[in-house]
Amino acid sequence: MKADVLLGLQWGDEGKGKAVDVLAPDYTWIARFQGGPNAGHTLWLDGQKVVLHTIPSGVFREDCQNLIGNGVVLHPPSLLAEIRALQEKGMNLGQSLLISDKAHLITPGHRLLDQAQEAAKGDQKIGSTLRGIGPAYTDKYARHGLRYGDMARPNAADLLQRSMDTHRQGLQTLNFPEPDDLEAQTEAWMDSLQSLLKEFPPVDGSWILNQALDQGQKVLAEGAQGSMLDVEYGAYPFVTSSHTTAAAACTGLGLAPSRIGDVYGLFKAYCTRVGSGPFPTELHDNLGETLRKAGNEFGATTGRPRRCGWLDLPALHYAARLSGVNKLIVTKADVLSGFGEVQVAVRYEGMHSHRDSYPTNQEACIPVYRSFEGWTLAQDKSYNKLEDLPLALRAYLSFLEESLDCPVHWVSLGPDRHSTLQTRI
Ligand code: GDP
Ligand code: IMO
Ligand code: MG
Repeated sequence: MKADVLLGLQWGDEGKGKAVDVLAPDYTWIARFQGGPNAGHTLWLDGQKVVLHTIPSGVFREDCQNLIGNGVVLHPPSLLAEIRALQEKGMNLGQSLLISDKAHLITPGHRLLDQAQEAAKGDQKIGSTLRGIGPAYTDKYARHGLRYGDMARPNAADLLQRSMDTHRQGLQTLNFPEPDDLEAQTEAWMDSLQSLLKEFPPVDGSWILNQALDQGQKVLAEGAQGSMLDVEYGAYPFVTSSHTTAAAACTGLGLAPSRIGDVYGLFKAYCTRVGSGPFPTELHDNLGETLRKAGNEFGATTGRPRRCGWLDLPALHYAARLSGVNKLIVTKADVLSGFGEVQVAVRYEGMHSHRDSYPTNQEACIPVYRSFEGWTLAQDKSYNKLEDLPLALRAYLSFLEESLDCPVHWVSLGPDRHSTLQTRI
């Protein structure tokens, strides 16, 4: 058996949470492979909204096991709060949530450093979620990070102290004041960590998933952020600090490349981005505002308004290539309902087509648009098969399939589980 991967092809917030929840009944394992609580994955369950940050989105499917993989960075107090909120709903996560021993930890020092580094950057700031992601991955690669499994050992307090000392020096260098309650914050952090370790003993995630695949169980690797935020391939430095493409599912879960099966690439029928950095198709006018309102485009983690724009085919083609996507999922097609005309950037000026080499720096990219007839979806009608959809939307989807050389597997027409139309088996 091979593990499938689901990831975002844009700048995050493509609807990964909903998509994983919809696909999860087909899988035994859902495993997050990178990122941390910078993610906000929204699920709508019986009219109730739930936002997951570190817990995989298969958690609401009874027969699913959920693994927080080694590529993830986790913040014990936030994760514990997320777990407690679900337990209050009556869920018994002891049976369905596992945490890799090699996942790195985000400490209070990492969060402060994230703030300090952003403040020092001034108008060049990345617009980070301030969740400590960058500093935690920095420590991982500098080889003085703290791993979940290591903190179950007797010298955990010493490890934390050493880490705090380094972070204090970092804060001083950046002239960032240390909060008076840092010691108290750190104690609370340690308490949360101890509770997690007790309730969720560290596991060898790679061994577990490989065993599961050997036994014929199905695994879905859940991505966070989006391909255009990848630390290597995104618009550096306006990126996150992890790899967000399919290759990261291998390193982030301990799966060999030969064990990867389908790669689902998810994108909205338009584009959004939170934080700073280039966004070639951004709409700065009223239309952008209309899109934000229609799509309720406000960050699931920070509540910031998302920047909105038209679909960007060169960026999509680039992202699909980087991950070897073989199944597309188009989300939020309902949001464009009622727009008389819909535009797509089919290339940037200077490019022959969207298939050209993708520019390393997108600041100066000027999109060339193609216009499509808009569509209107009836609110009281349920759309169950491709043929039910308005012709204009079907033409839009066909155009995308052809341009990306990849079939659209399903289309999402609303935030809840049921507003999903499978176009192919
Ligand atoms: P994620 O980070 O990729 O999981 O996406 P987010 O949860 O941050 O943002 C996606 C938002 O769009 C959430 O508010 C979802 O409830 C919502 N959503 C997902 N799919 C659809 C859809 O097809 N139509 C509409 N209108 N909303 C959707
Ligand atoms: P999900 O999984 C959208 C953005 C931040 C910022 C940049 C770096 O919900 O799609 P970081 O905190 O990672 O150092 O911030 O990346 N960002 C996201 N944008 N969705 C996300 O996750 C994001 N996670 C990080 O806004 O621009
Ligand atoms: Mg999100």
